[in-house]
Amino acid sequence: MGQLDTNLQALLDKRKQKGRFRSLKEYDTRAGSGLTDFSSNDYLSITTDAGLREAYVSRIASEPMVLGSTGSRLLSGGTPSHRLLERRLADHFDAPSALLFNSGWDANVSFFGNAPQPHDWVVYDELVHASVHSGMRASRVAADRKVQFLHNDPESLAEVLQKITTESKKNAGKTKPTIFLAMESLYSMDGDFAPIPSLLDVLDVYVPRAQQCVIVDEAHSTGVYGSGGRGVVDALGEGTTRTGSGRVTVRLMTFGKGVGCSGAVLLASETVRSFLINFARPFIFSTALPLSTVFALESAWDFLGSSKGETRRALLVDTINYFMDRVGPLLAFTRPTILRLPDPTPVPFPDGRTLPPRPAAPIIGLLSPTPHALSAFLLERGFVVRPVVPPTVPPGGERVRICLRAGIDLGALDGLIRALAEWVKLKLADGEEEVRAKL
Ligand SMILES: Cc1ncc(COP(=O)(O)O)c(C=O)c1O
Repeated sequence: MGQLDTNLQALLDKRKQKGRFRSLKEYDTRAGSGLTDFSSNDYLSITTDAGLREAYVSRIASEPMVLGSTGSRLLSGGTPSHRLLERRLADHFDAPSALLFNSGWDANVSFFGNAPQPHDWVVYDELVHASVHSGMRASRVAADRKVQFLHNDPESLAEVLQKITTESKKNAGKTKPTIFLAMESLYSMDGDFAPIPSLLDVLDVYVPRAQQCVIVDEAHSTGVYGSGGRGVVDALGEGTTRTGSGRVTVRLMTFGKGVGCSGAVLLASETVRSFLINFARPFIFSTALPLSTVFALESAWDFLGSSKGETRRALLVDTINYFMDRVGPLLAFTRPTILRLPDPTPVPFPDGRTLPPRPAAPIIGLLSPTPHALSAFLLERGFVVRPVVPPTVPPGGERVRICLRAGIDLGALDGLIRALAEWVKLKLADGEEEVRAKL
C-alpha cells in the first residue's frame, strides 16, 4: 500500500469506529424484484410512468442530436434547446429569468459562492443543505458575517437580525449590505415545511426590502406542490414575479427528485443570472446539461403541468395520509426511545394557507437509536428504507427515512407498518405486556 492509501485508510478506519462509514449499496426495486422502494425521491413515481416514457421516446426520435451537449454553455453547449427550456421555465414560474445548472448542488455552490459580497451578511436556517454550506465556504464573506438561526424559528431569526442591525449601524455610511436569508421550503430529513411567511415577516421588521435577498431551496417540493408543480413559494404567493411582487427573490428548483430527471434551475433577476454566467465557476467550466436531459425535462414538465401531474400530486397526498393514519397509532403506543417522529416544528404552519401541514410531506423520519439494524430488519422483509446517521443528521437524530411515492401499492404500505410493529415488539422490555397486546 502506498503512503497515500495508508493515510487515507487510517482516516476511513477512524470513521468506521465512529459508525459513520459510508458505502454504496444498490437495490433492484423493479416490479417483480420482491423489494419495495421506500427511499427514492421519485415522489410522484414519474420515472416509471409509461405515458411519459412514450412521450420522451417520441420526442428524442424527432431530434438529430440526443446525447451530450458537447461543451459548456458559454461555448458549444449553449444550444437553442437549453435556452428554450429556460424561457419555458421562466414563463411557467412567472420568474424574471431562469438559469439552468447541472445539479442543485452546482446551483447552490454557484449562488452562495458568488452572489454575496464581502460587506454582505448571509443568514441561514441551521438545517440548510450541505451545498449551501459549500457555497458559503467558497464565498468572500467573512466567517462572522455568515450566521445561522435555529431551525424554522422566527424568534431566533429575529435575534440574529437584531444583532446584525446593531452591527450595521456602527458601519453606517459605508456601502449598504444585502442581507441574504437562506432556507428550504420542505426539509429533507424531518419532512417539515418552513414557516416562510412568518420568517419573511420577521425579515421585514429588521431589513428594508431593497437590502433583502431571500433564497428558498425547493429541492424537495419542485413538481410536488402547488399548481403545475410550481412549488411552495408560488403556492404562498411569495415568489418574485415579472411584475415584481413577492418577497422571495431567488428560488432554486431542482430536477432530480419530484421531476424525475437531473439538473436544476435558478429563478432570479436578469442581473443575478448574468452575474452567475460571468462568475460562477461550476457554470462556466462544466459541460452543459446533456440534450437527452433537456428533452427529458421538456417531457417531464409537460407531464407535471398537465392534469396528470395534478392527479399524481393528489394521489401522493392520499398515500401520505393513508400511511400517517396507520403509523400514528403505532407510534402512540410505542416508547419514544424505540421509535418516534422528530419533534414538531416550533412554529406551526400558518392556518388558512393553501399548504398542508407537516404530515402531508412524503418524507417521514423515524428516529431510532439503531437505524442500521432497523433498516436491515426491514430489508429482510422486502422494504428498502435507508438509515441516516451523523454527520448527515445531528447526533441523537439517528433515524430511518421513509420516502413515500404516489401510487405506491397500499399492500406494501400495510406490510411496512406490520414490519415496524414487529420491530417495536422485539424491542419491548419486560413489563410492557400491555403495549405488546395493542400492537
Ligand atoms: C435541499 C437540497 N438542496 C440541494 C440539493 C442538491 O440537488 P442535486 O441533487 O440536484 O444536486 C439537494 C439534494 O439532495 C437537497 O436536498
